[in-house]
Amino acid sequence: MNPKKSDSYLWVEDFSTNEILKLFSRAEQIKNTLLKGEKINTLLGHQVALLFSEASTRTKISFQIAAQRLGAQCLVIDDVNSTSMSKGETFSDTFWTIHSMRPSLFIIRCGDDDGLDHLAQKSQTPIINAGFGSKSHPTQALLDGFTLLERFGSLKDLKILFVGDIDHSRVAASDFALFRALGAEVGVCAPEHFRQKKLSSIKVFTELNEAIPWCDVYVGLRVQFERHGGETLSQITKDDFQKNYSLDKEGLKLLKKESVIMHPGPVNWGVEFQDCVKEDSRLLMWKQKENGVYTRAALMEKVLQVNL
Ligand code: CP
Repeated sequence: MNPKKSDSYLWVEDFSTNEILKLFSRAEQIKNTLLKGEKINTLLGHQVALLFSEASTRTKISFQIAAQRLGAQCLVIDDVNSTSMSKGETFSDTFWTIHSMRPSLFIIRCGDDDGLDHLAQKSQTPIINAGFGSKSHPTQALLDGFTLLERFGSLKDLKILFVGDIDHSRVAASDFALFRALGAEVGVCAPEHFRQKKLSSIKVFTELNEAIPWCDVYVGLRVQFERHGGETLSQITKDDFQKNYSLDKEGLKLLKKESVIMHPGPVNWGVEFQDCVKEDSRLLMWKQKENGVYTRAALMEKVLQVNL
């Protein structure tokens, strides 16, 4: 088999702004068609292999639903203990083993050290990145961008604030790229130990009560307890975050009426959001989850070059 780069989608930057807007337009068509109860069979005959070595609810299920709604069959490998990885086979060998059985498409979630970018360089089967360690989560950015476009009509000059564990968030990395490509202004508010990475052209707030009135979109980010490695978050850090960076009743009062609240999920309730946020009509979180199905459906069509 000759190594050949396939048309994988690993980074937001893999698509031009025009391609992203075209994909959103197709996602809207898919949404309208499926909500009318009509069928779409663009992926009929395709086999989609979902290889997940890290946990997922939203991304995995929405890809499965999307693939099945478009007529594809899904093969789900998400329990490492039920595969030969439990006998010491590497993630890479697992990938090449399944690759040799010729599925139409891979949807992969893996850790920082699993070399997703290297696999994609040699794969003859296209790969969609469903979450690559703390590096990138481009399909989350697509569904977030689509949800904002649906709500505001355009992202141009929209002020989007991210609050939380910026450094460990693959969602933040991908959202920053996509939102800025669509003309939005990005700001962050986080304790210093959550924003050590260099952030160019991003507005940095240290006080939440100054950041909230600035934004049109408030994006809460989960504190990634599992990605702090050996350096366990101290109780002081957690207490500091909950006291100074959690969206609570007072914060909701500072947020503009027409602003919206987003979160990629899962939420650590009581940490980045207090329970009162659940009842706030500005919360778009459920719409984000729903739109994951339509944007991922449009993406699979694009990567498999069907419905052109
Ligand atoms: N937002 C997100 O990626 O959620 P899951 O980890 O549940 O897929």
